[in-house]
Amino acid sequence: MQTITLTRPDDWHVHLRDGAMLNAVANFTARQFGRAVIMPNLKPPITTVAQALAYRQRVVKAIAPAAKFTPLMTLYLTESTPLQEIDRAAEHADIIGVKLYPAGATTHSDAGVGSLKRIWPLLERMQQRDLPLLIHGEVTDADCDIFDRESVFIERELVPLRRQFPELRIVLEHITTAQAADYIRDAEGPIAATITPQHLLFNRNHLLVGGIKPHYYCLPVLKRAQHQQALLAAATSGNPRFFLGTDSAPHRLTDKHSACGCAGCFSAPQAMAWYAQAFAGQHALSQLEGFASVHGADFYRLPRNTDTITLTLTPNTIPEHYGQHDTQVVPLGAGQTLNWQLNNA
Ligand code: NCD
Ligand code: ZN
Repeated sequence: MQTITLTRPDDWHVHLRDGAMLNAVANFTARQFGRAVIMPNLKPPITTVAQALAYRQRVVKAIAPAAKFTPLMTLYLTESTPLQEIDRAAEHADIIGVKLYPAGATTHSDAGVGSLKRIWPLLERMQQRDLPLLIHGEVTDADCDIFDRESVFIERELVPLRRQFPELRIVLEHITTAQAADYIRDAEGPIAATITPQHLLFNRNHLLVGGIKPHYYCLPVLKRAQHQQALLAAATSGNPRFFLGTDSAPHRLTDKHSACGCAGCFSAPQAMAWYAQAFAGQHALSQLEGFASVHGADFYRLPRNTDTITLTLTPNTIPEHYGQHDTQVVPLGAGQTLNWQLNNA
């Protein structure tokens, strides 16, 4: 039987939520990954170190004791974040960075930033303190087509921001376009990007052809196949600027099956099997360990994990749903069969 063994990977972008949903989903992540960067877009958002540490406690409580898993916390940047909060975050090893949501860009982003100019003092301080900035890279202008929002953000917001703060370490999260992949590959200075399984394996036809498929709806939205190909090339290139971030974002089934369905794909249960599927499809399984287990740790200047995981080439059918009642969630690719299965999962 064919197997691949990798240094244990990390998930550099995940939504674990809170309360019952946190308890329902956290162990899917903890079972596969050594560490994960936990997104702060709760309601209300995690805007202070004190809130992040309290949330971290709830995450730790939700994780099975046997799992050797470290949650890495983020703060949600607002226009009224005090400079002292940046200092506190920079001084606390459990806080890995600060997340920038343009106001209105995605789920629970209404407390986000309206104008980047207004947070320049905060970015200046982050640059001084070497605290990474994690960016949801989409403009929110009503007249900007949703499929163009990432590439317009890069030109109009990211390039000027980086000219102003050239030493600020930045992760452009969940990139979805050839423009983003090219920018990350070619730009100068400390920049990297995470890539999700859905953007490697699917494109907007999966979302829209033959009926609207809400479980393929996430933000930034899936783009055309040409962009999917560019992301596959980037992820499998071996370039250390590209690394794994699932953006697994569970929403209750009833919130997805709605006239105004929520954005987010729940990929956590089969996360590594999805990535193995994508890399195998490119005949690039040899690049998976760099992408999943090495590049992110190096970018964040953390030690690489020392234990391993093993995936086996064996049919792996994805359940139709997980959880019950308020925590019932449909996973990405429900009912489909993947080629790879994580051992002991
Ligand atoms: C995320 C969520 O639901 O929290 N949704 C998504 O579509 N990716 C938010 C985000 O990362 O944009
Ligand atoms: Zn996200």
